[in-house]
Amino acid sequence: MDLTALPKAELHVHIEGTLEPDLVFALARRHGLTLPWDDPEELRAEYRFADLSGFLALYYDCMTVLRDGQDFYDLALAYFERAAHDGVRRVEAFFDPQVHLDHGVALAEQLAGLHDALAEAGRRWGVEGGYLMCFLRDRGPAPAQRLWQLAQPLAHRLLGVGLDSAEAGFPPEPFGPVFDQARRAGLHAVAHGGEEGPPSYIWGALDRLGAERVDHGLRCLEDPALVERLVTERVTLTGCPLSNLRLGLVDDMRHHPLSRMLEAGLRVCVNSDDPAYFGGYLGDNLEAVRQGLSLSDATMVELCRDSIRGSFAEPGRRAAWLAELDRALV
Ligand code: HPA
Ligand code: ZN
Repeated sequence: MDLTALPKAELHVHIEGTLEPDLVFALARRHGLTLPWDDPEELRAEYRFADLSGFLALYYDCMTVLRDGQDFYDLALAYFERAAHDGVRRVEAFFDPQVHLDHGVALAEQLAGLHDALAEAGRRWGVEGGYLMCFLRDRGPAPAQRLWQLAQPLAHRLLGVGLDSAEAGFPPEPFGPVFDQARRAGLHAVAHGGEEGPPSYIWGALDRLGAERVDHGLRCLEDPALVERLVTERVTLTGCPLSNLRLGLVDDMRHHPLSRMLEAGLRVCVNSDDPAYFGGYLGDNLEAVRQGLSLSDATMVELCRDSIRGSFAEPGRRAAWLAELDRALV
């Protein structure tokens, strides 16, 4: 079965995680910035990560080259082209504005570039979607609140809010008040949880943040009552297999918990997280689990179905894509 032909949504991709080494160098040249690596190959040679924190350090370093709206446009458009090639019809992408604000890039400027790229992707490839603004959990709730003050007048340009960055030691509950405000402004809420943090962080994301999806969510398997809750409430978990492999959460794709999650009745979809860093875009992630876990065509279609069911797309769009997936199996 040709997976690229299946309609699918990508619900867990950090747009800055699509920053390829060639673009890092092109943008550094554009802005006259000096990088600590001689060329893209030398940068790519750094892409061996011991854990999430090791990855995040390099990920934040590379972001220093994103300095204006045009950079965000170029970054996002390059990603949308790859996603369209993988059959992605809808993208709900994260971005980390706190880092860019530190570099003097205004939130409105970040969003202008991102939105122009999405509009162009719609015209060129029929890709639709929106952006999820993330709070960096390891900076704590006060900076998150300051970001929300900046974002509130621009809330109509956001699909939702998320919570990302280093997880262990940073539970979700302190971010409850800022998530309450975002939800009251009509935004969707999602949160990373159970990537490196314990199941209690997933409970907290659901109960205190009102998270409609949990990003990663792998460690829910340690808590049967949590699995039952996620199954009953049909909460989508946005899995990222190559990310898990590269960050050492699984030692081999043949041992990835995705099969166990599906068997437990969880709603899981496959995503790329930070594809420029983890060795592949959405299509590569789907192929990796198909081969590693010997998944059937029916299961591959089910994963695509879960991505669409878990998206915040308009119901009519979701129904059309699901009908297309039904036809793919006959
Ligand atoms: N986890 C948490 N924060 C992140 C990630 C991730 O996998 N990628 C980019 N920011
Ligand atoms: Zn992520």
